[in-house]
Amino acid sequence: MSAAPRKRVAVLLSGRGSNMAALLDAAKDPAYPAEIAAVLSNRPDAGGLDTARAAGIEAVAIDHKLFASRAAHEAAVAAELTRIAPDIVCLAGYMRLLSQDFTDRFRGRMINIHPSLLPLFPGLHTHERVLAAGMRVHGCTVHFVTEVMDEGPIIAQAAIAVLPGDTPDALAARLIRAEHRLYAEALRLVASGRARMSGDRAVLSAPETQSGPGDILLASDAGRIVAL
Ligand code: GRF
Repeated sequence: MSAAPRKRVAVLLSGRGSNMAALLDAAKDPAYPAEIAAVLSNRPDAGGLDTARAAGIEAVAIDHKLFASRAAHEAAVAAELTRIAPDIVCLAGYMRLLSQDFTDRFRGRMINIHPSLLPLFPGLHTHERVLAAGMRVHGCTVHFVTEVMDEGPIIAQAAIAVLPGDTPDALAARLIRAEHRLYAEALRLVASGRARMSGDRAVLSAPETQSGPGDILLASDAGRIVAL
């Protein structure tokens, strides 16, 4: 029996693109169910574009500053996505608000990674806010994208401990490692069809996640928690 064709993924980003690089890395495994077809950025100077090009991936800048309106820029991004024809769109540090037209177009096929345990701390500066709130755990979330920013059905979350003396930078540096693991696992679930959006919920079937050293906890389906 031949393997199912890999899902084509377009990644939208605005910055350094370390999550995108983690997805690229995961996709090096021929058994991984997704491949990165193209990377788009609203910022021509985004480091993620260079990383993608160096890996031989098509990398396109659509500079939002060159457009008269938010809607005109978004239309250009949408047109580019129509050309690329991805099965799945991954937002990876894409710092643009999306219209409902755009999110509807990719409903159930667009996912985002956010650096907090949603629904806590949507928006920016999550590490500072976690510390200010005196949280003992922090984490990251991959969710299906809906019209409300940083909302939408949760596919998977990873948690890390907040340690005494943590600064926002220290916390960010530890969390980003969890993000990379989480995003690769969550995209695996979506691309393989084991996570899908049904109404306002993400429905998951059992993952085949392997356990690792245990400093990161990943919860990606009903009640199952594994140590990464
Ligand atoms: C990550 O913290 C991600 O969770 C957030 O934006 C940041 C992007 O980092 N949405 P990178 O560009 O992937 O390194």
